[in-house]
Amino acid sequence: MCGIVGFTGAREAAPLLLEGLRRLEYRGYDSAGIAVTGGGTIRVEKVSGKVEKLCEKTRDGAAVPGFTGIGHTRWATHGAPTDTNAHPHLSNDGRFAVVHNGIIENYAALREELTAKGYVFQSETDTEVIVHLLEYFDTGDPKTAVMRTVARLEGSYALGVLCADRPDTLFAVREASPLILGIGVGENYFASDVTALVSYTKNAVYLDDGEFAELTPRGITVYDCSGRPVEKPVTRITWDVEAAEKGGYEHFMLKEIMEQPAAVRAALAPRIRDGEILLEGFDLSAEELGRFNRLIITACGSAYYAGCAAKYALEALCRIPVEAVLASELRYGDPLIDDRTLLIVISQSGETADTIAAMKECRARGAKTLAIVNVVGSTIAKSADWTLYTRAGPEIAVATTKGYTTQLAVLFLLALSMGRRLGRVDGDRYNALLGDLLRLPKLIQNAIDLNHGIPALAKKYHRSPSLFFIGRNTDWASALEGALKMKEISYIHAESYAAGELKHGTIALIEEGTPVIAVCCNEALEDKTISNIVEVKARGARVLAVAFRGDRKIVSQANDVIYIPRIGTLFSPVLAVIPMQLLAYYVAKENGCDIDKPKNLAKSVTVE
Ligand code: G6P
Repeated sequence: MCGIVGFTGAREAAPLLLEGLRRLEYRGYDSAGIAVTGGGTIRVEKVSGKVEKLCEKTRDGAAVPGFTGIGHTRWATHGAPTDTNAHPHLSNDGRFAVVHNGIIENYAALREELTAKGYVFQSETDTEVIVHLLEYFDTGDPKTAVMRTVARLEGSYALGVLCADRPDTLFAVREASPLILGIGVGENYFASDVTALVSYTKNAVYLDDGEFAELTPRGITVYDCSGRPVEKPVTRITWDVEAAEKGGYEHFMLKEIMEQPAAVRAALAPRIRDGEILLEGFDLSAEELGRFNRLIITACGSAYYAGCAAKYALEALCRIPVEAVLASELRYGDPLIDDRTLLIVISQSGETADTIAAMKECRARGAKTLAIVNVVGSTIAKSADWTLYTRAGPEIAVATTKGYTTQLAVLFLLALSMGRRLGRVDGDRYNALLGDLLRLPKLIQNAIDLNHGIPALAKKYHRSPSLFFIGRNTDWASALEGALKMKEISYIHAESYAAGELKHGTIALIEEGTPVIAVCCNEALEDKTISNIVEVKARGARVLAVAFRGDRKIVSQANDVIYIPRIGTLFSPVLAVIPMQLLAYYVAKENGCDIDKPKNLAKSVTVE
């Protein structure tokens, strides 16, 4: 979703802003713009379309001279993705420019009020009210104007503000939308996430909600909402530039699929010492864990599907009721939650608006919160009672791969640790399952290596108008993620069903040649799934099964089989998803799709 960058220093700002915007492209956007101060004025350039177009228009920034500026990639919410609606927006007197990520919920009332005062609106955006408020409150001190403006805003916003009279000053404001400051030598920056900062600095300051910062080339001062300076710790960014680049792969998605053995190893290995699982801070005693009589998992998208898969392991190993609920439903669902509920919140970005809201709602009802998050210092990571980082490294492709499998790895580790501490997993079972977890990185590599035939399979399936993904129990959870991957990046209609549910309606859609991807990695239920395979084949379906290597039963039933190495049922979703990620990738490639930046989608969904 929208990306923000800001720079002030002794170098030309525009090329650095454009480079920062390029690094934020993965978040998803439909227009881009920059504003730079120089000679007492602000120059704005913006385009609908890609950052590349903005580079052409500005001759890679050369046409917009100046040493302080802000930039933006916009994912349209209020108003179509046109040049006019693109950010930055400029005040009527030309003295302020603003970029904004988030939604101003009271914009309609503010727009009416400002129009009545004579301000002329150029765009349909909610953002434009901010820049007119700045002008309205301006008495020559931009810091005061920023504070007064922010006091009028309701909603979520990360803002970058530029002022023509202060050619070496930037303001950055944060309320419920991510914004990070970067500290350089003789220059300073802000950005929506660290991927835009890592090539310039490794030193970051994470703003909290309600704080704003004044940046000059000489330093950064952070204030609370009443203008009092706040001491902020400087955090060292551990991601490097290479991690956020393609490294020879054609797409980030393929690179990230291939990184999964290492990412899952980073998520697991440092947390296992001498047969013990160590979960930074969440190593609660049996008595403390015993207080929880219910686990609720909440998340959006793939993170929710990771929760669906983990539910089986958590229930099997902890013997506590577990429910996985979509965050967008939970937040308005009047949930039955109290202080005996442990809420497990899963998010790659740590900034998903619905997930944050569901978490707040459950905390207000007394739940304790455990976050499983990739992005260090993100909102969810910071506001949970306990946080376990997934350590996947930067994930750039919009469709998550290593983000998802590392979430699963941490969730399975958590399930095993909790089950053992609660005394519900005996020593032998614990050792066997811990062994499975430790083997996962190698097995993921095997799953990748076993599937060199997938590009050829993709050629068979890529023209299908519709694909169905089926499975039972843990396999159903894998099928949900498999179908999501397919539709996200290939734009082919893909649906997932619990295999046993097919005949209650969906089987009516099966015709001659309809592809059905059947996940068969739950050995106890394989015969049941095979019955469903037989049923769809009888109606003409072409079945592609995902099964364990050496599975003989499946060969005679399915038209095609893709194999994964054998592992116990509970943790099998980590492996089952690998060939489905590859299948989605190669089908999308066959269809010439924009794999890393699929249309209409955003990496980090920071609005409701
Ligand atoms: C978007 C992304 C998905 C992701 C979901 C939740 O829809 O495209 O890949 O699963 O948001 O994001 P989160 O950052 O909370 O895991």
